[in-house]
Amino acid sequence: MYSKEELQSGLNTHIFGKKIFTYESIDSTNACAKTLASTGAEEGTVVIAEYQTAGRGRLGRTWQAESGSNLLFSTIIRPTLEINKIGLLPFFAAAGVALALETVTGAHCECKWPNDVLLNGKKCCGILLESSFQHNVLDYAIIGIGVNVNQKLFSEELKDRATSLSQEYGKEFDRRKIFQQIMKSLELLYAEVKTGKFEVTLHEWKARTKMFGKQVTLTQAGEHLHGRAMSLSADGGLVLATPDGQRVCYAGDVTFTMQS
Ligand code: BTN
Repeated sequence: MYSKEELQSGLNTHIFGKKIFTYESIDSTNACAKTLASTGAEEGTVVIAEYQTAGRGRLGRTWQAESGSNLLFSTIIRPTLEINKIGLLPFFAAAGVALALETVTGAHCECKWPNDVLLNGKKCCGILLESSFQHNVLDYAIIGIGVNVNQKLFSEELKDRATSLSQEYGKEFDRRKIFQQIMKSLELLYAEVKTGKFEVTLHEWKARTKMFGKQVTLTQAGEHLHGRAMSLSADGGLVLATPDGQRVCYAGDVTFTMQS
């Protein structure tokens, strides 16, 4: 595991990564960051681990990642946001990761609603955002980021959908460099996000998504909804034009529908 000093060396950020907690193994960096945030940890605090025994994914799933090959970390933010803007935070995190991976690798990343980052059509990064409120006001949000960096093998179940930077480029990547670039990209976008504005974030995210105008299937809890992906709603929902009219969806997995 990199030391805190190694991760911070040359990192000229003012918020993200100013405080870092490192672990060889932990249940979940999100769970740990939540505990820290609820006891007052400042925004930008990072919890990073080589391995998670209970890594959390979206929709109650687990996040599996080989030990010592990837980036598994969570960071705390405390923006002052109206409640209807909170659903835009995942786009901030995904755009930040995409910008960073592009800077380090020269690749073009795809952003997939709501918060996956893909390389050549396969997922290389998952993001889990968990928010906490006090009297209907956002107290903090935890951004949990899992980037597949140098992992070579994926389970039978995942191998057609998941990839890593090293699998795509046939070489090993410096995880410290990628971590630091993510910190920098998040900080860049956060300058406007913390004031409640998402123009740059949404511009960057939309420039990297392929779904608008396409027929998609949104799957949630075994239910399938078919429609044309039209746009994002002001609060981060996916606007679908379905045979029964327009629907705005807030959770689920999107796949492109095969056209006959
Ligand atoms: C997804 O389902 O795509 C989201 C996966 C998020 C995984 C990351 S790994 C670091 C952080 N800690 C967790 O327990 N989950 C997130």
